[in-house]
Amino acid sequence: MRKSESTREFVKDYYKEAAQNPKEDLCCPTTYPTEDTSHIPGEVIDRFYGCGSPMNLAQIVEGEVVVDLGSGAGIDCFIAAKKTGANGQVIGVDMTDDMLKVANECKSEVSSNLGYDNVEFRKGFLEEIPVENKSVDLITSNCVINLSPDKRKVFKEMIRILKDHGRIVVSDIISSQRIPENIRDNEQLLGECIAGALTEDQFLSYLEQVGFYGIEMLSKTHWKTIENIDFCSITLRGYKFEKTAGCVFVGQHAVYNGPFKVIIDEEGHVFARNQAVEVCTDTAQKLSEIPYKGMFTILEPDQNTHEVSCCSPSATNGNGGSCC
Ligand SMILES: C[S@@+](CC[C@H](N)C(=O)[O-])C[C@H]1O[C@@H](n2cnc3c(N)ncnc32)[C@H](O)[C@@H]1O
Repeated sequence: MRKSESTREFVKDYYKEAAQNPKEDLCCPTTYPTEDTSHIPGEVIDRFYGCGSPMNLAQIVEGEVVVDLGSGAGIDCFIAAKKTGANGQVIGVDMTDDMLKVANECKSEVSSNLGYDNVEFRKGFLEEIPVENKSVDLITSNCVINLSPDKRKVFKEMIRILKDHGRIVVSDIISSQRIPENIRDNEQLLGECIAGALTEDQFLSYLEQVGFYGIEMLSKTHWKTIENIDFCSITLRGYKFEKTAGCVFVGQHAVYNGPFKVIIDEEGHVFARNQAVEVCTDTAQKLSEIPYKGMFTILEPDQNTHEVSCCSPSATNGNGGSCC
């Protein structure tokens, strides 16, 4: 059996056991407000093995399609089900039958409490997500990526299933330095979401390599220290943007409105506050959307740059009025 397959088999067995008998101290303590969980049965809450609260931070909009990777007993899916409403859709993906069993057994109680049924659980791997291309608004994951033997594949799969401008909000454990072999080979620590942790730099670099942009650290808390290595729980958000084949420069400029003196985007554009910078059609569109929406003024070709520096929103008269 290949190493990646044996890792998966071990993790599956570990979480089969955790589905059958709740393990209290499995991951770092994290909670959701009662109003988000009051519709969820105790069997699910008892098997909450996350390390963060992505659903608190994801700002789910009604009607969104949400996929939760490594959904376990279903807690994050059931929270998302309430937030996205009857017109939304939530898909939980997990490879462990016993976790899926608990989630499916509790689904009817959740839908009867909510008055609608918008959740489904699919059996599958994070490395081959059983969801169609470009069909998802939001991907969440709570303490699962560290367990994957092929993390690059997981990040690539996330990009594949997201719609253009879709986002990920993922919680996971990261380490302050690369994990030495003696910890990496410790199966108990693998199951506890420690041995497979990436460093923060590795995590961010994977996200950037597959094309996520606008990446933001939404939360970071210390979990534990083992052999002088600090392990933290983080929650990150990032966005997908699909570059178009015909991206060209048509004379558009972007003006960064502040508050910083200068910023650099993922592609290396340097934007000094209130200075017009030439941008291609893709960049102009990207800067007009979340998470950059409102930070830039995009000037179309017929607007000259002199007008820009006077009329951009940062050049106000102090009472909110424009100087022009
Ligand atoms: C630490 S638990 C977290 C469960 C859930 N997210 C929560 O917060 O309670 C990890 C879950 O991910 C699943 N899992 C781990 N690796 C996986 C993989 N490669 N593909 C699919 N599911 C996986 C396990 O079966 C388990 O249910």
